[in-house]
Amino acid sequence: MGEALPPPGEAVELLRVHVGEAVTARLLSDRRGSRAWKIQGSRGAVALKANDPGDAASRDKAAEMAQEDEHLARLTEAGVLNPGYRVAAGSCEGGRWLAVRWVDGAPTWRAFALARGPEGDRPAVRSWLLGVARTWAAQLARMHAAGWAHADVQPTNTLITNTGGAVVVDYALACGPGNVPRLPYRGALTHTTAPEIADAVLSTTKDTHIQAEPPADVWGLGASLYWCWTGHRPVAYENDADRLDKLRAVAKGATLAVRDTRPWPFPEFEDAIAACLSPSPEDRPTVQALASVLTPAKGTS
Ligand SMILES: Nc1ncnc2c1ncn2[C@@H]1O[C@H](COP(=O)(O)OP(=O)(O)OP(=O)(O)O)[C@@H](O)[C@H]1O
Ligand SMILES: [Mg+2]
Repeated sequence: MGEALPPPGEAVELLRVHVGEAVTARLLSDRRGSRAWKIQGSRGAVALKANDPGDAASRDKAAEMAQEDEHLARLTEAGVLNPGYRVAAGSCEGGRWLAVRWVDGAPTWRAFALARGPEGDRPAVRSWLLGVARTWAAQLARMHAAGWAHADVQPTNTLITNTGGAVVVDYALACGPGNVPRLPYRGALTHTTAPEIADAVLSTTKDTHIQAEPPADVWGLGASLYWCWTGHRPVAYENDADRLDKLRAVAKGATLAVRDTRPWPFPEFEDAIAACLSPSPEDRPTVQALASVLTPAKGTS
């Protein structure tokens, strides 16, 4: 396949039955100890993830990969995910792999390029932005209704299709109902971590599980929309600050005002983002309420 970082051979062999012959692999990401590829065959494509066997934290990542597989099974059982989403999983030399249905979409940051610039200030883009936020909220609403929080709502974990629909991926860290044994959740990407999660990370020991609740996803959604639309992360801290210092800043609950950083005025969208970023979880809207508020008024598209 001529890849500098080839996918695990065991996985590719097993995936042939799903994607057909003439398999090609394209590396999509290689960060924080895990890698993802698009595996394309004559009959279809899947997204394949595997832990990086050379990474020091690889054991944890392999365990996360196994945990995501369990989460996919539970979320499918609960009717949140389509049974066709999980394709296959297994172990390979150096760890674990997991394959899911290919979602044809762009990572959120890239999809927001037009909206972030001055040319975004037009009705079609306003309506597109509301649609993205609405479909993102609606996807999370299905998880929340089943008693789950995604717990890692951030721009790289959502893909935007060419019809402007948001599709949430990466269920590795999700927090579900019941006392099921799991890896302790200690927050995910700092920039999209809700203040109450930051506070819990700072005030508990490393092996304590923090159960993320739906309002933390709402904060993550607001932070992701803020970041991708304005080009700024919602909490002010230095780029090279230590993670714990960033979490201390997040835990205070203060964010930059969207009015001061927005590329152009869009009060309805700004208000929705600001509401998601309310410091107290109980002051944030539910994703169900957001999905209905963000429905574009007739004549705006
Ligand atoms: N089903 C999918 N269809 C298309 N692309 C996908 C799919 N799942 C993941 N990807 C792409 O692969 C990237 C990595 O996937 P994912 O976020 O699930 O892995 P990860 O190892 O948890 O990465 P990270 O730790 O950086 O979040 C995503 O950011 C996305 O661009
Ligand atoms: Mg991810």
